[in-house]
Formats: sequence, structure tokens, C-alpha cells
Amino acid sequence: MCHFLIVNVHLRCHLTSLIVKPSFLFLPEMASWVSTLFFLIWLSVSQAQEGSGKIPTVEFISESLINNVVQDPQTGRIYLGAVNNIFQLSPSLQKEARTETGPKKDGKTCTPPASGCQDTVLMPNSNKLLLVHPSNGSLIVCGSRYRGICSLLNLSNVEQELYYNDNKGQRTYVASIEDNVNVVSVMSTYTKNGRTFKVFLVGKGYGSLDSPKLISTRILEDYQDWVVFENIIVASAVQTAPFVLKYLHDFQHAFKEDGFVYFLFSRTLDGTDNKILTFVSRLCENDQHYYSYTELQLTCGIKNQYNKVQAAYVAFPGKELARVMSQSGNYGTVTSFTKVLFMVAHPDDDESDSALCMYPLNSINQQLMDIISHIDVYLCTPAQWILNHTIKTWLKCRLSTLIKGFQNFLVLFV
Ligand SMILES: *[C@@H]1O[C@H](CO)[C@@H](O)[C@H](O)[C@H]1NC(C)=O
Ligand SMILES: *[C@@H]1O[C@H](CO)[C@@H](O)[C@H](O)[C@H]1NC(C)=O
Repeated sequence: MCHFLIVNVHLRCHLTSLIVKPSFLFLPEMASWVSTLFFLIWLSVSQAQEGSGKIPTVEFISESLINNVVQDPQTGRIYLGAVNNIFQLSPSLQKEARTETGPKKDGKTCTPPASGCQDTVLMPNSNKLLLVHPSNGSLIVCGSRYRGICSLLNLSNVEQELYYNDNKGQRTYVASIEDNVNVVSVMSTYTKNGRTFKVFLVGKGYGSLDSPKLISTRILEDYQDWVVFENIIVASAVQTAPFVLKYLHDFQHAFKEDGFVYFLFSRTLDGTDNKILTFVSRLCENDQHYYSYTELQLTCGIKNQYNKVQAAYVAFPGKELARVMSQSGNYGTVTSFTKVLFMVAHPDDDESDSALCMYPLNSINQQLMDIISHIDVYLCTPAQWILNHTIKTWLKCRLSTLIKGFQNFLVLFV
């Protein structure tokens, strides 16, 4: 796992091989709308690796496990969030700077600042969240120490810390101190009083000692009552603690596209059944109350054998892949300009087996629209929600959406 970037190159290489050899594609015969779930089984890694020798290999090796990787599109620089280290690399993977983020003296139940805690011991710091914040010239870094408080590092030199404050209490806890709780995030904006603020949205599973919010929106500057890193949105249905606990959310990816923010995660269906399922959820980027939050189940493989998402990425398909997807007749027209969600998933009881499934984003959006139109909730114009619904009726609708949404999926998928 420390060879993350190399793995990534191989992955690209696999994809290339798969694209030029459509015989690898496994097209299921399925009822028409399940067809979003155009999937292919990862037949053989070794076969797909053919030809990898042609790609020049550059590598950077970290002594500790790499948790996160981001690239600044403006400079091409790559930042690695690893256990106890943040690395700043040139586009050709030369090390430019490094900062140590751990181990730090901390305690499981310690409320920062740690200087006030007893029984602290040196504990490793896993990087949980890494984001480029270009307009501030900083890198947002949140680790597993001190309740997942974040800091801002200089993008040109990560050795320089630009902002850190452990005195602001619970509202600034962002990530998780627990190793098995995944955190995903994406930059966005928030408008208030005619001013547009940079924010980042965070999706996080349940850790018994950290903030119970499933999805939160974090501000990046002090403004009126807000402090840097505080959650500025309170939307109880998507955020309450019992909800989070019961469903065992495990977030794997967050991304933004065409005015929507998406989260990809696995969870149980209703908290009484332990079966894990994978979902994509979507909300409007300009929705300041998460009213537009909607979930869609993604299935992968025959009988949804690959039920737990492991990793995902959104990219344009190659020409050849787009052609094969179109020809399958399952998606309408897919071109090399149609963004596709590529997802690797595994059976929840067998991590050694996995498959790559593909879902064109427009097809995900179409199905989310179908759900929304069946259940009469909200489209993306804030005026519509406000005109038609008070918060109270929203909550009722919201819950029935979730329940009815599940039933839809049960009927159509399982
Ligand atoms: C960030 O680092 C660069 C290079 O060391 C420096 O020129 C710049 O002033 C730093 N930015 C801030 C806000 O200190
Ligand atoms: C970056 O954000 C921090 C935290 O809000 C702030 O203190 C700092 O002044 C900002 N720097 C720039 C260059 O905007």
C-alpha cells in the first residue's frame, strides 16, 4: 500500500488493457433499468498487466502507510497524507518537502488541547483528510489525533503551518480518532449575506468519540459566530447519531459534478439486517439544508455479489469503452465525454475477491430523478422547496423518501 502511486499507474494500465480488449467485458443479461449496472469482472490482474513495461515507472516510497493522495491542478504538485507524515512531491514524484504530524501525545478520551489531559501516550497520526484549498494557498490536513482537528499547511511548503487551533472545542472536530472510520471530502462554496465562502463537505462514518455527524459542511474562515473548521449546517435527518450508529456507514469517495455533490459509501439497509449494500447519495451544491439529499443503491455483479465499495473514481471513458457501453444498449448513448463512476467492490465476507463496476453519471442522475419524481420531493431550485414545504413536512417527506426508496430498490434489484 505504500507504493500507492505505482499501484495507480498499474490501475491505469489495467484500464487501458481492458478498454482495448472488449472481450474482457462481461455483459449481464438483466432487466432494462438494472442496466446501469454495466459491470465487468476483474478477470485476471496478470492478463491486464500485459504491456505495463511500456509505461515509464516513476516512484516514491513512503516508510509509513499512505492514507490519502491529492494533486494541485494549478502546479501539478502531489501531496501524500501518510501515517505521521505529509509529503509534498513535484509532478515527477521528487520530494520537495515533508512534515511530521505524529506520533503525538494524546489519549482516546482526551479533549484537546492535550496539555490539559492526563495519561497521554505517544500515538500515531493517520491522515484522514487531505484537500487543496487554492484560494488560500493552503493544504487542509485532518488526522486521527486530537479528535480529528484540522490544520492548514502552506501549499508551496508543507513544513510551514499556516493555521492550527485546538482551543475551539467540539465544533471544530472534523475527522475521527478511530483507525477504521473513513473520512471523505470535497471542496465547495456557501453563500450567506451575499458573500461566498469556501467550505468543504465531509462524509464520515461513526466513531464513538468523534462528532456524530454523517455529513457536514466546514467553513474555512472566521465569520460572525463561525470559527474556522466549524460545521455550519444543521440538518437532523442526515446527521443524527442513532441514524449513523445503526447503519454502519463506510464512506469511500466524495466528488462534485454539475452543481451536485455526491458521496459513495456502504451501509446496512435498515440497521436490523446486517447485509451491507453500496449507495451513492447526491445533494445540490447550493442546498444549504441538505433537503435535496437522495440515495440510490448501486449493485455490482450477479445478485449483487460485490456488495461493498472499496474504492472509486470518476473519469471519462476511453473511446473504445464508450463505444462498447453504447453498443450494449443498456445506457443510451455513452460517448468519451460522458463521465463514468468507476468503482471497485468486494463481497463483504471476502476481501480477496473484487470486481470493477461502471456507472455513467447521467444514468445515476436519471435514476435519482426517477426516485424524486415518484416520491414528490424536491428538485434543485431552492425556491421550490421553500414555496411548497415547511421544514416539518420536509422531515416527514424525507423519511418516507428513504423508506420508499429502499422499497423501490428491493423490488427492482434484489
Ligand atoms: C508559503 O511558502 C512560500 C515558499 O516558501 C512563501 O514564499 C510564502 O510566503 C508562504 N506563504 C505564506 C502565507 O506564508
Ligand atoms: C487562509 O485561511 C486562514 C484561516 O481562515 C487565514 O487565517 C489566512 O489569513 C488565510 N490566508 C490567505 C492568504 O487567505
